[in-house]
Amino acid sequence: MASVASVAVVTGASSGIGAATARRLAAEGFHVVAAARRADRLEALVKEIMMSGGRATAVPCDVTSDASVAGLAAAVAGLAAPVTLLVNNAGGARGLDPVATGPVADWQWMYDVNVLGTLRVTQALLPALERSGAGTVIVLSSTAGLIVYEGGGGYAAAKHAQTALAETLRLELCGQPVRVVEIDPGMVRTEEFGLVRFGGDAERAAGVYAGVAEPLTAEDIADCVAWCATRPHHVNVDRLVVRPLAQAAQHKVHRVTP
Ligand SMILES: NC(=O)c1ccc[n+]([C@@H]2O[C@H](COP(=O)([O-])OP(=O)(O)OC[C@H]3O[C@@H](n4cnc5c(N)ncnc54)[C@H](OP(=O)(O)O)[C@@H]3O)[C@@H](O)[C@H]2O)c1
Repeated sequence: MASVASVAVVTGASSGIGAATARRLAAEGFHVVAAARRADRLEALVKEIMMSGGRATAVPCDVTSDASVAGLAAAVAGLAAPVTLLVNNAGGARGLDPVATGPVADWQWMYDVNVLGTLRVTQALLPALERSGAGTVIVLSSTAGLIVYEGGGGYAAAKHAQTALAETLRLELCGQPVRVVEIDPGMVRTEEFGLVRFGGDAERAAGVYAGVAEPLTAEDIADCVAWCATRPHHVNVDRLVVRPLAQAAQHKVHRVTP
């Protein structure tokens, strides 16, 4: 259980892994700051957490905007408690096009939200994390940050960059009271990831998980986040790679055909 007075900021908390992480960290005793663009979803989440006896604050924030991230940092600074945890989760994929034809705009979007979003929010909150004396930065990258696959060039490039950011930051913070943890999930079935990737095409999004007995859930990843964040502070889990049992590697997925 975290200290009752410590703040955890979770980006991309309006759905999927971020929302599950916000719920779980609140249950662990953190005061959760839930950030994403859709204020209505954040408000509903915060209400739900508070109804269960937890503490949470909704802060609408677009991680691709300097001004919006500055607003997040200001809102966090207004809370009385120290900030000990930042979960850089906002992100996603767009398209499954080959490098030869993938729209530049999709690559740009993926780089901006996954990589520069993580950079902006980390830069904005690092001073507070250092001041806490026991900070943790978690970067939600992906197994796509470790290996590439056909059609995944833009997403893999962005996730590899997030991985590079996390590794570099850990080196640069050596000697400071902030640990840097990278979590790399494989196949996770969340409500919106596939829809965003395939421009709202629900059938195509569902096809990703076709025949896979038990893809990971958002709660499984929230569990990984909570486990890393609640180790004694001298324990730095550098990288946690997690896949469903049915996925032995990026290209090796067991599917049962009906
Ligand atoms: N699902 C998977 O299989 C999987 C596997 C490995 C890694 N991941 C990574 O895990 C993270 C969460 O994925 P998920 O499956 O939970 O996806 P999701 O359900 O689509 O959630 C993505 C979240 O990011 C937020 N977001 C998007 N653009 C944003 C922006 N500009 N500013 C602030 N927030 C923004 C969205 O909220 P708003 O739209 O309200 O802003 C949403 O809350 C992502 O980084 C993803 O790459 C996912």
